[in-house]
Amino acid sequence: MSIWPLTAEPALSVGGSGLAEIAERFGTPAYVLDEEHVRARCREYAKAMAPHEVAYAAKAFWCRAMARWIAEEGLSLDVCSEGELVVAGAAGFPAARILLHGNGKTLNELSAALDYGVGRVVVDSVSEVVQLAALASQRQKVLVRVTPGIDAHVHRAVTTGTEDQKFGLSIASGAAADLACRIRRLPSLELAGVHCHLGSQITSLDSFTEAARRLVAFMAGLGGLPELNLGGGHAVPYRPGDQGLDIAAFAGQVTGVVEQECAAHGIPVPRLTIEPGRAIAGPAGVTLYRVLTVKRGTRTFVVVDGGMSDNPRPALYGSRYHVERAGTPAPAATEPVTVVGRHCEAGDVIVPDARLPADIRPGDLLAVPCTGAYHHAMASNYNHLARPPVIAVRDGRARPLIRRETDEDMLRRDVG
Ligand SMILES: Cc1ncc(COP(=O)(O)O)c(C=O)c1O
Repeated sequence: MSIWPLTAEPALSVGGSGLAEIAERFGTPAYVLDEEHVRARCREYAKAMAPHEVAYAAKAFWCRAMARWIAEEGLSLDVCSEGELVVAGAAGFPAARILLHGNGKTLNELSAALDYGVGRVVVDSVSEVVQLAALASQRQKVLVRVTPGIDAHVHRAVTTGTEDQKFGLSIASGAAADLACRIRRLPSLELAGVHCHLGSQITSLDSFTEAARRLVAFMAGLGGLPELNLGGGHAVPYRPGDQGLDIAAFAGQVTGVVEQECAAHGIPVPRLTIEPGRAIAGPAGVTLYRVLTVKRGTRTFVVVDGGMSDNPRPALYGSRYHVERAGTPAPAATEPVTVVGRHCEAGDVIVPDARLPADIRPGDLLAVPCTGAYHHAMASNYNHLARPPVIAVRDGRARPLIRRETDEDMLRRDVG
């Protein structure tokens, strides 16, 4: 699995557009997104999982163009806020294919989801069920989010399948079964299935097959249900040599285990849903930075014109990235450097252990691959830096999907 987008000539071009030309035209920092890569991954996922369902997790990267691509490629959609739902609505995303998530949904969110007619609401607490049942004027399908008690051995901040955390209801304690029975007694709700999400950047198929076993056993206790949603979390490579999750292997093993377990428990095989976000959008993106300064001392710091405001993941999770000088063929001699941002924090490091050409200098362009997911989505205005644009590339054409934020945009909110 490559760390670069499908159509990339690494560090030179993506989607037939030169990275140097994109930087010149749109400025830096900038996120570049390969439309063909996104679409190809959607098709690969849909084919591997057919006839089951693939729902793109909007939290990874979301805008109207993305919504249209996902809809056109036939995927369903996982949203986890009213804001994500608003974007889906603005793009005319088919309501029946939408699932609403969230461990703390507001009343407005629930009402908006019902008004839009979302296919399923993934419920996460007793109080939410009570509220939803009261608000629903027509029968609403729901899935119960459960915690199967599985540690997928990923960063603690993105571990969500274990017992002791804020998402879902515990199978082991009986809370999940109690909520399922309660839903069945509510005439405005229809218990359609169960959901779990183990975490993110998971490389092991065993975690998913074990989750499938436990969830099928749980569903059997309820006499079987039509839907089983195993969430997202499929790993992608960020650096050369990193392991990604193979969707064909995943589909083969997980569907096989579900069929076997259902046969063993004597229940019908449910329709499966999976919710990849990162695996669709992550490797489709490349971030471009301009080098501002190079400081040589005991260590060489390469300071770029972005940082933790456009990529908080190294500071949040210790995530590791690859970086290359873009737009020029790399010379043979490289030196070890630390690529840092320009924010007022010592932890504002993009790549602590990079190797860049020894003649790296201010004005050079750098490309950081695998930045299509959880980058623009998690970007902030820290130090009042404007958020970078997202530039889609395809067939030699580059166009902004999201324009660069301006000082005016930020001042507009400053109403005091
Ligand atoms: C419920 C749910 N589904 C899907 C995802 C997508 O995860 P990933 O982007 O790692 O595939 C997440 C991520 O947090 C999630 O919480």
